[in-house]
Amino acid sequence: MHSLITYQVDDSLALIGLARPPVNALGQPLRAALLEACELANGDPSVRAIVIHGANGLFCAGADITEFGSPASFAAPDLPGLLLRLTRLDKPVIAAIGKLALGGGLELALACGYRIGETNTRVGLPEINLGLLPGAGGTQRLPRLIGVAAALDMMISGAQVAADRALALGILDRLAASPEQLLASACDYARELIASAAPVRPAEPFAEPAKDLEADFFERYCVEQEPRWKTRLAPRLVFSAVQAACLLPLEQGLARELALFKQAEASRQSEALRHVFFAEREAGKVPGIEASTALRPIAKVAVIGAGTMGGGIAMNFANAGIPVTLLERQGDALDRGLVHIRQTYAISVKRGKLTDTQLEQRMALLSGTLDYADLADADLVIEAVFEQLAIKQDVFRQLDRVCKPGAILATNTSSLDVDQIAAVTARPQDVIGLHFFSPANVMRLLEVVNARETAPEVLATTLKMGRTIGKIPVVSGVCFGFIGNRMLEPYAREAHRLVLEGATPAQVDDVLTGLDLNMGVFTMLDLAGVDVNFLVRDANRAAIAHDDSYCRLGDELYSLGRYGQKTGRGFYQYEGRQRHNDYEVVALAERLAGELHIPRRPVDDKEIHDRCLFMLINEGIQLLDEGIALRASDIDLVWINGYGFPAHLGGPMHYAEQIGLDRVLAGIRYFRQTLGDYGQMWFTPAPLLERLVAAGKTTVERI
Ligand code: CAA
Repeated sequence: MHSLITYQVDDSLALIGLARPPVNALGQPLRAALLEACELANGDPSVRAIVIHGANGLFCAGADITEFGSPASFAAPDLPGLLLRLTRLDKPVIAAIGKLALGGGLELALACGYRIGETNTRVGLPEINLGLLPGAGGTQRLPRLIGVAAALDMMISGAQVAADRALALGILDRLAASPEQLLASACDYARELIASAAPVRPAEPFAEPAKDLEADFFERYCVEQEPRWKTRLAPRLVFSAVQAACLLPLEQGLARELALFKQAEASRQSEALRHVFFAEREAGKVPGIEASTALRPIAKVAVIGAGTMGGGIAMNFANAGIPVTLLERQGDALDRGLVHIRQTYAISVKRGKLTDTQLEQRMALLSGTLDYADLADADLVIEAVFEQLAIKQDVFRQLDRVCKPGAILATNTSSLDVDQIAAVTARPQDVIGLHFFSPANVMRLLEVVNARETAPEVLATTLKMGRTIGKIPVVSGVCFGFIGNRMLEPYAREAHRLVLEGATPAQVDDVLTGLDLNMGVFTMLDLAGVDVNFLVRDANRAAIAHDDSYCRLGDELYSLGRYGQKTGRGFYQYEGRQRHNDYEVVALAERLAGELHIPRRPVDDKEIHDRCLFMLINEGIQLLDEGIALRASDIDLVWINGYGFPAHLGGPMHYAEQIGLDRVLAGIRYFRQTLGDYGQMWFTPAPLLERLVAAGKTTVERI
C-alpha cells in the first residue's frame, strides 16, 4: 500500500489511515492513495465496513491549498469525484475524526455515511477565508444533514465548531470518550452497524432542504448579511451554492457547486487570500532563529502603564491564563485602569462571548502595583507609557535596576528608536520592541521590533509568546514608525495634500473604503486623535517634513482643538458616532491652499486612489530594500492586520503585483512630472521598484 495511507483489515473492518503529515492535506497523491484503498476494501469480501481515520491522530485539514490555481487542483482523482465514489461504495464507511476535519476534510467526513469524533474534535468549512467555497459536496451535503440555516452559517462564518456542538447539530453521530479511544470506539460503532444491518448510508435528516424553510429565508439573509460582504465574491458564491442545494436535485447541485468553486478558485480575491494564508505561516520563519533556538519561559508578565493601551495589552495575557502585574505611578490611575478592564470584559459577557466565571478568572490574574520592586520576578515586562523618548528611557533605567537577569524588557513604542531605549540599560540584548495596535486586546497585529543588540532567543521567545496570545507577530527592523506607521506617513500625507488641492475628506475616505479598507485616512485620524497624530508628526517634523504644505490641514485642526471624535469635531463633525461632512474644513482647506499658492481643482477618484496607494506601496518597497521588513508578505500582514487593508486584496505589496509593478512605477513618475515642485519633492520611486521593473519582475522581492 501507498506510503501516504496505512491499511489494515481487522476482524471484518478495513482501517484506512491518512498518513500525510502535518495535516493530511488532500493533494493528488493522497487522493489517489485513498481511492485505491477504498476500492481495495470495497472489493474485499472479508471486509464488511470501512473506517477512515487520521493515522497520526489528526483527521484532515482539507484540500491541499498549494495545489489551487494549478492543474494539480483537479488532477485525477479530483476531490469531488473521489468523494462521490465514496458515497457509492457498497459498505458502510465511518469517519473517525480526530482533532480536526476542516474544509475538504469535513467534506470527506460528510461523504462517509457515519461520523464519530472525540472530545477535542473541531470541524468547520473555512474555505471562505481563502476566497473559496466548499467545492467537494459540502454546500450540498451539509444543508441536507443539518438544515440550511446552520449549514449556511458555518460556511459564511468559516468558524470551527467544537465536538459537543457538532454532535448537537448532527454533524457527528457520536463521541469517543477520549482521543486515545477514538479508533477503538469507531471500530465498535462499525461493528454495531454491521450487527444491526444498518444501511450503507442513513437517510438524510433534511433530504429536501427547502422544505419547512421560510419562504423569504434567502431574501432576509441577504438583507442582513450582504452589507458586511462589501465587494467579497466568496460569500456570494457560497450563498448561490446553498440556494442551489434547495432548488436542485443532488447531482445537479453538485455540478453547480463545482462551477461556482472553479469561478472562486480562479478569482484574484482567492489568489490574494491564499497568499495571506501562506504569508501568516511564513512570518514565523525568521533567519537566525532555528527550531533549536532556546526559548525563555514566560510565566509572569508585567505591564507599565494602565491606560487604554497598557490595559489592552494586559488583557491579552490574562486571556491566555498568564498572570499580569500592572504598574502605574498613581493609585487612582491604577484603579481606573483595572475598572476599565473589568468593564471591557463585562461587555464581552453581555454579548455572550464570555461567562461571568471566566470574567472573574481573568480579573484574578490581574494585579496592580505602584512599586517597581514588585516587577522583580516578571519574565517579560512591557512598557506602555507616554510616547516620549526621555520618559521611556527613564522607565528602562528603573527596569534595569529591578528586573531579574534574563527578563525580557519590551517597549510598546510606535515610532521611537528602540536602540536608544535599549542603550540606557546594561542589558540591551534583552530589550525588544513589541508594538501592539489599539485596541490591543482585539487587534491581531504585533510588530516585533528586532533592535541592534536583541538576542536571538529574546526574538524567538517573543514571537512564540505573540502566537500564544493569539497575535500575528511580524518582525520589523528599527526605523521611524517601523513597517506600519512609516508606510502610513506618505499615505496620510497624500490624503492631506489632496484635500488642499480640491478633494474633500469624505471623497478621499470614500475612495479608500470603496476599495474595502475598513476606514479612510481621515476617519482613522479622527478616531485615533488629531492631537496624537500631530504630536508624533511634530516630534519628527525636522526629519520628514520638507515643505510648508506638509499635513498643514491636520496642524490647523490641532491648533483649533479639533481633536477628532473625542471632541466631536476633527476632519468631520460628529453626533455620537454619526459622522457628518464639515464645510468649515473645506473652507479651511481653501484658505490654506490660497496661502500656500496651491491651485484648487476638481480631483478625480482615480487620482486619489493612485496617489495614496502608490505612495503606500512605494514606501513598503523601500522598507523591503532597506531590510526593515524581511519579506514583502510581512508588509502585507502588517497592513491587513493593523490598518484594515482588505485581506482579499492580499495587502499592499500583493495589490501592487496585481496592479502591475510597471504601472505603479509609471504612476509615480507621472505624478512626479505633473505635480510641479510638490511632485519633484515627494514622488521619488523607490530604487528597488525601479530595479524590479527594469528586470521585468512581476513580484515584489529583494534583488
Ligand atoms: N493545505 C496545504 N498545507 C496546509 C494546509 C492545507 N489545507 N493546512 C495546513 N497546511 C500546512 C501549513 O502551510 C503549514 O506548513 P509549513 O509548516 O510549511 O508552514 C503546516 O501545514 C502546519 O500548519 P499551521 O502552521 O497552520 O499549523 P497549526 O497547527 O497552527 O494549524 C490548521 C493547523 C488549523 C489545520 C491550519 O493550518 C489551517 O487552518 N489550515 C487550513 C485549513 C483550511 O482552510 N482548509 C480548507 C482548505 S480548502 C478546501 O478544502 C477546499 C475544498 O472544499 C475542496
